Amino acid sequence: MKRSRVNEIIREGDAFIRSFGYIMPPFAYWTPDELRTRRPDGIVGARLGWDITDFGQEKFDEFGLFLFTVRNGRQEDLASGKGMLYAEKIMISRKDQISPMHRHIVKAEDIINRGGGKLVLELFMPAEDGGIDRHKEVTVPTDGVVRKLPAGGLLKLDPGESVTLLPGVWHAFWGEGGDVLIGEVSTVNDDLSDNIFDQPIGRFSSIEEDEAPLHLLVSDYDKHIFGKV
Ligand SMILES: [Fe+2]
Repeated sequence: MKRSRVNEIIREGDAFIRSFGYIMPPFAYWTPDELRTRRPDGIVGARLGWDITDFGQEKFDEFGLFLFTVRNGRQEDLASGKGMLYAEKIMISRKDQISPMHRHIVKAEDIINRGGGKLVLELFMPAEDGGIDRHKEVTVPTDGVVRKLPAGGLLKLDPGESVTLLPGVWHAFWGEGGDVLIGEVSTVNDDLSDNIFDQPIGRFSSIEEDEAPLHLLVSDYDKHIFGKV
């Protein structure tokens, strides 16, 4: 994915998010140099920030997701069972843009339709080995009410509605009828190890540098802040 395209998606995403009255925190707008110089552990260590992914497929409009991690707790707190055990993201699923089928090992997440089109989730329960159970009925809490769907059923959330996805529940999602602003409230987030995909795909984009980055992506931090290749 070209950096110029990432920059364009950041600009478009920022405008879309602001159109709903949601304002991102100050560090969202730090320049790459400012982030490199200040490098607070609470931001770069917690891996907060921009995350524009095509899941390594180079087809962002078909397979992709805009994410911004607003806050994230600490693995150490998770291990001890007290402290900052939570995380928050703001995301955009464009119309018919698929976030591919995956599950989490540790993270429970509430996926919230914050506005725009319908958010459609395709859901499966986990089999004994953690794989997809293609027969078992899906049971998920939605705003305090348990909903049941057939395996692979489509859960359609209107603006204001949400679903709680416990660890293990398989999910893919996309916008229907328009782009969707999505909130995520979850357990501590670790995108390096806690995403299991059904297909052999990546979690992050590989970037071709054709212009300077407007803002660094979380996946840029190792290379652009710490100089690791
Ligand atoms: Fe997920």
